Amino acid sequence: MAGGLPRLGADDARTRTLDGALRERARAVIPGGMYGHQAAGPLPPEYPQFMRGGRGARIWDADGNSYIDLMCSYGPVVLGHRHPAVEAAVAAQAELGDCQNGPSPVMVDLAELLVSTVQHADWAMFAKNGTDATTTCCMIARAQTGRSRVLVARGAYHGAAPWCTPRPAGTTPADRANLGYFTYNDLPSARAAAAEAGDDLAGILVSPFKHDAGYDQEIVDPAFARGLRELCDATGAALILDDVRCGFRLHLGSSWEPVGVAPDLSAWSKAIANGHPLAAVLGRDAFRDGASQVFVTGSFWFSAAAMAAALATIEALRAEDAIAAMRRQGTALRDGILAQAAAWGFEVSYTGPVQMPYLTFRGDRGHALASAFAAGALRRGAFIHPRHNWFVSAAMTDEDVAIVLAATDEAFAALRKHTKEGPNV
Ligand SMILES: Cc1ncc(COP(=O)(O)O)c(C=O)c1O
Repeated sequence: MAGGLPRLGADDARTRTLDGALRERARAVIPGGMYGHQAAGPLPPEYPQFMRGGRGARIWDADGNSYIDLMCSYGPVVLGHRHPAVEAAVAAQAELGDCQNGPSPVMVDLAELLVSTVQHADWAMFAKNGTDATTTCCMIARAQTGRSRVLVARGAYHGAAPWCTPRPAGTTPADRANLGYFTYNDLPSARAAAAEAGDDLAGILVSPFKHDAGYDQEIVDPAFARGLRELCDATGAALILDDVRCGFRLHLGSSWEPVGVAPDLSAWSKAIANGHPLAAVLGRDAFRDGASQVFVTGSFWFSAAAMAAALATIEALRAEDAIAAMRRQGTALRDGILAQAAAWGFEVSYTGPVQMPYLTFRGDRGHALASAFAAGALRRGAFIHPRHNWFVSAAMTDEDVAIVLAATDEAFAALRKHTKEGPNV
């Protein structure tokens, strides 16, 4: 499909010499060789573990192989790698000072900008990672209400602290004793969990849409979002929106502003500073007291360079109409991939907002087809993921999309060659 375009590192030109050597060294000094969401071990062997750098929508692995980036560092990169205005703001702030005895004035500038950008926000606090932000939101909800129980959707990811990490190793039942569970988009299940919590309900923590890794994504039902709001209004609990993954990729404001539902508290990180380490908690005045009671801090939470990066990122998102750009390229990507899947005779689901899509193959047990497809696309220069939603950045050009579509077309072709007749078998 996109004939004549340059191939980014043709299949046979790809080497993994340095990556292999680094993996071997890492196995000796890093438990398991690597840990967390960026461990390449569970991915097909074509995936590099170590990355060298990136510019715009292009990235290079440690061996110098290049790709069009559709993972965007698992979400933080929204304007493209090393966006000039963001990097200039970071360099200028770093020249003045970053980690100091007190925060820099940019902290107040950024809090003001967030309060004026996000409708429900009357105040802002900052941290480093999304887990800091979701944990702080729960603490504020508890401090404000004097209650303990927080409801979360079954299977939702809210971070990697003991109360929310998806694997049980190293945690105790007590870490989750104050959680209750509901099913995403199922209001009766949330009402039942709230009734069970009774007068101990401190908050309901929910993501803007259902984006559990490895499953088809589900857009929020506006009636569900409104129902959660009503439940919190009726009980005095905090409605907490976990905007860590979606924030500033779907809307220049809270991701539920287009749905018309305002949370009391929201957690942000990832795209807020275009790859620089920053998280934020935003909240309404009704929860300001609780927010000033909790003791939350960290050695690097007040570092100024990432805050300067966030100021520049939010300004650039607005100036470049970046959300619309991501929507446009994401739509072209979706339309192209769905046309290819149909042409090659695969039944697929392509779910979620076009800026954060995820592709599954019908009946694909253990993600075998998705893994082969993703590895095929990766070999041909499109960095996608078989078990996690992808991320479109505003740096993607028409040419980048065409290169990705050429790669996915060849990946579908290769998959078709290796599967028997019939849709997905
Ligand atoms: C919805 C959501 N919440 C919280 C987190 C945790 O963020 P972090 O990994 O920065 O701690 C993530 C990370 O992927 C996330 O997607």
